[in-house]
Amino acid sequence: TFVVTENCIKCKFTDCVDVCPVDCFHEGPNFLVIDPDECIDCTLCEPECPAEAIFSEDELPEGQEQFIELNAELSQIWPVITDVKEPEADAEDWNGKPDKIDLLER
Ligand code: SF4
Ligand code: F3S
Repeated sequence: TFVVTENCIKCKFTDCVDVCPVDCFHEGPNFLVIDPDECIDCTLCEPECPAEAIFSEDELPEGQEQFIELNAELSQIWPVITDVKEPEADAEDWNGKPDKIDLLER
């Protein structure tokens, strides 16, 4: 399973949704998650993310482990997103900022 991690928060570029063959991305107010029950490990989304926020759960950067559970939990609540949308105007400013977990909106 692939996992969306912290750097997606407030960036939400959505390039990732365009390539997923099984439509397993779900959208919240300022973050996307992958449904672990639907992801087929095709790897296509990982290089598409301009924020480099997508990782295989086996290769998660240190400190990002909690996002396994967050992706599983929030994908059950948030709706599926299949179309790329225009990111917020300040998305690029948030790329790489630390501690964005505190800004996650549900
Ligand atoms: Fe979708 Fe493939 Fe990414 Fe899984 S690895 S979320 S199936 S694009
Ligand atoms: Fe987030 Fe990257 Fe997709 S910023 S919305 S995981 S392209």
